[in-house]
Amino acid sequence: MKVILALNQAAGDQAAFNVFQQVIDNGARVLGLATGSTPEGLYRLLRESSLDFSAMTSVNLDEYVGIAPDNPQSYHYFMNQHLFNAKPFAHSYLPNGLATDPDAEVKRYDQVVADNPVDLQLLGIGRDGHIGFNEPGSPFDGGTHRVKLTESTIEANARFFASKDEVPREAYTMGIGTILKSREILLMAYGDKKADAVQKMVEGPLTTAVAASALQKMDNVVVIVDPAAAAKLQPASISKRL
Ligand code: GLP
Repeated sequence: MKVILALNQAAGDQAAFNVFQQVIDNGARVLGLATGSTPEGLYRLLRESSLDFSAMTSVNLDEYVGIAPDNPQSYHYFMNQHLFNAKPFAHSYLPNGLATDPDAEVKRYDQVVADNPVDLQLLGIGRDGHIGFNEPGSPFDGGTHRVKLTESTIEANARFFASKDEVPREAYTMGIGTILKSREILLMAYGDKKADAVQKMVEGPLTTAVAASALQKMDNVVVIVDPAAAAKLQPASISKRL
């Protein structure tokens, strides 16, 4: 894992954009995409760029259960607004939050990822160290599954809903094992609320209690942090400063 400390969020977004540009220039076919407020600046840079995704495929990490794709709180809707409407891909896949048969849906989505091996997977990180919606305790070799969200995640994501009661209690997510199959992984974390999770991911023990710690020993992982998210890291943990 290589940790890049950016001067601020704008510098971090630019560094993330450069990683995207490079892997696309090198012939990447499939991008693994993430939602949340962290990648919004990167998506703006991608929208405003001359990059063309029309021959590429995207696969997203996760989707809430029980929310339709045209619901503004769905991850489908988020991706349309932040990227796909401006920059369509040949194929874009997300889990189906309205699937009536959960077992069939997780099988379908694992097959989607198997058929479209991810060249570059973008990740954010939850305050409890989750990646995708892999909450504490998720096995490092797990595939796509349906998950009950923790109280911490429901609270953190309540800001996108009218009230906490409206936040779905469950989601479909790629598993940690699914994520680890990606050729390259780029994780972005900004702000002091992520400092604990970042410290545990980078310096803490490898433990399923912190899903992101699964990335620690991987040499194909780049982490971009701003000073607030890096506040609890040892200087020696930082590979590069921008
Ligand atoms: C959600 C998403 C994650 C995301 C996390 C952090 O739980 N499922 O993929 O990384 O939130 O979100 P934010 O970037 O808004 O802090």
